[in-house]
Amino acid sequence: MLNLTVPLEDELGDVLEKAMRRQGLSEEALAHRTGVPSSRILDAIDYRSDLSSDELRRLADALELNEVGLCALGCGHYPSPEMISLPFCVHALRTPHGIGFANAYLVTDGPSSQGILFDCGPDFEALTLGWPRSVKKVDAVFVTHVEPEHSGGLCEVVARFGVSRAYCPTGADAPCGQEMGEGQRMKLGGFEVRAFGTPGHASAHNCYLVTAPAIKERGSLLISGDLVFAGSVGGAYFCHRQLATHLRRVLEGVPPETVIAPGHGPLTTARNELRYNPFVI
Ligand SMILES: [Fe+2]
Repeated sequence: MLNLTVPLEDELGDVLEKAMRRQGLSEEALAHRTGVPSSRILDAIDYRSDLSSDELRRLADALELNEVGLCALGCGHYPSPEMISLPFCVHALRTPHGIGFANAYLVTDGPSSQGILFDCGPDFEALTLGWPRSVKKVDAVFVTHVEPEHSGGLCEVVARFGVSRAYCPTGADAPCGQEMGEGQRMKLGGFEVRAFGTPGHASAHNCYLVTAPAIKERGSLLISGDLVFAGSVGGAYFCHRQLATHLRRVLEGVPPETVIAPGHGPLTTARNELRYNPFVI
């Protein structure tokens, strides 16, 4: 179920670009501050990086990034997480959108024919491309944020599966469903879903922590939307400061072995991102 072969969403160039935007630094200003020629910074942003470890360290320092994580990205070896097996099934649905992919996740308790859906892909067709045939019913839908690639399929999913419970972050301009905000918990069969209100990428954005309290084996899943990716973060289109605050709060607020299921890219863990994510220092 857990596909670890998906490439990282962001490469070194994307991370540098996001960090420069956050600090309000141009290539020239960053070059001036670090002594790394602006042409070499531009090459890195254009995915032609041959920055040395020393240059990466200087860039990390000026951009307030995690040096170990940035150097790991720079040499193309971002550390893979050690992943525990969860006491429930997670079906990662990679939905094509534009030139990339957005992830939705279907959570089931093993052989069950019903599940809980997190995000909906751009449309019903994209969402159901990799849909497991055994799952016929959707008990509830939780949306991390209202953007075409994550919530475009929402109303059709609700209609086609006859979903009675659909939740979107408080304040989102949602086409259907009801609001769910910070600290709210929902019980669905053996599952509990708790919302973290995490504005930053968007003004209304939730992460959802999924646990199965009835099952003795430990294990939790964080649906992180565009707050955190393996090795990066979502673009802070609403607020850099709030994204940084919620990034740390959420990563530190869940058990370290929690599996993180991001809106883009591969799965990771809270422990891995606390240690290596370039945006966590
Ligand atoms: Fe996204």
